[in-house]
Amino acid sequence: MIDVPHGLAAAQAKANGDAGQAFVAALPTLAAQFLQRWDLRLDGTPMHGRCALVLPVTSTADGTHAVLKLQLLDEESAGEPAALRAWAGERAVRLLRHDEPTGALLLERLDPTRMLTHVPDPHEAVLVIARLLADLTATPAPAGIRRLGDIAARMLERTPQALTRVEDATARRVLADCAAALREVAGEPGDRLLHWDLHFGNVLAADRAPWIAIDPKPLAGDPGFDLWPALANRFDAADVRRRFDAMTDVLSLDRPRARAWTLARLLQNALWNIENGARPASQDLEIAHRLSDDRTWPRRRP
Ligand SMILES: Nc1ncnc2c1ncn2[C@@H]1O[C@H](COP(=O)(O)OP(=O)(O)O)[C@@H](O)[C@H]1O
Ligand SMILES: [Mg+2]
Repeated sequence: MIDVPHGLAAAQAKANGDAGQAFVAALPTLAAQFLQRWDLRLDGTPMHGRCALVLPVTSTADGTHAVLKLQLLDEESAGEPAALRAWAGERAVRLLRHDEPTGALLLERLDPTRMLTHVPDPHEAVLVIARLLADLTATPAPAGIRRLGDIAARMLERTPQALTRVEDATARRVLADCAAALREVAGEPGDRLLHWDLHFGNVLAADRAPWIAIDPKPLAGDPGFDLWPALANRFDAADVRRRFDAMTDVLSLDRPRARAWTLARLLQNALWNIENGARPASQDLEIAHRLSDDRTWPRRRP
């Protein structure tokens, strides 16, 4: 019988309320079911993030080391198997098996003790993310992946109402600027396969490659929308612009467009906060500010 880690139970109760608690309560039975159905034995300590229970397992049949990943099936997690299949192990973890009704995944085992978070120089880590993103987003999104164009349109509809709930005038202005930037690019939302959540904790090492991406919440869209995690993680206000420039160089992105999609990503976070009764994150407002020094941006229109 598996003990669900307390951190996962707490995160699920907070993020998903009753549905999260029901998911956590059902996890021991679900895990036992898949160990049996896929002929696996548990061979390590359960791991987790905020969404998933990840069990190190070995295939009884052929001794393959893998992990069993169980998470609440929702619109963010639903695309994970399709994305991993499209990447086919190129820079991303290999998908070994998938159960459609529950979303259970059997994944190639990587080395969880070697995480990009542990690389001492954040700038080196940012370059690793950039190179991963360059390859991952070179893949066109497969059918059925959520579309950034739809998400962007809904964000623009939600913004006016959300802004009325922001008391701080500076924050309101910054978010209005983010929405204006998004409006300029929303008509060309892109069609690449995006990871959406490529922060340093979602990159692990393995023997077959130095760094491999895990845990996508995939979207079909513009790669500029994928830059925010590496700006916000291991945050350093003075380094925001340097990281942004380094990533746009490696990915060969048009800077004004990448900036607009990054501001759109900040708006996405802020809308989520505001609609959940919280304030926009001050760190995100700082990132917007650091990307908005007008003198350093070429004008898009005369
Ligand atoms: N393929 C894997 N091999 C080894 N460890 C893994 C693998 N996938 C996930 N993990 C471990 O489980 C943790 C949570 O998994 P992750 O897919 O990131 O889910 P979450 O959405 O909860 O963050 C990771 O931080 C890592 O420590
Ligand atoms: Mg994760």
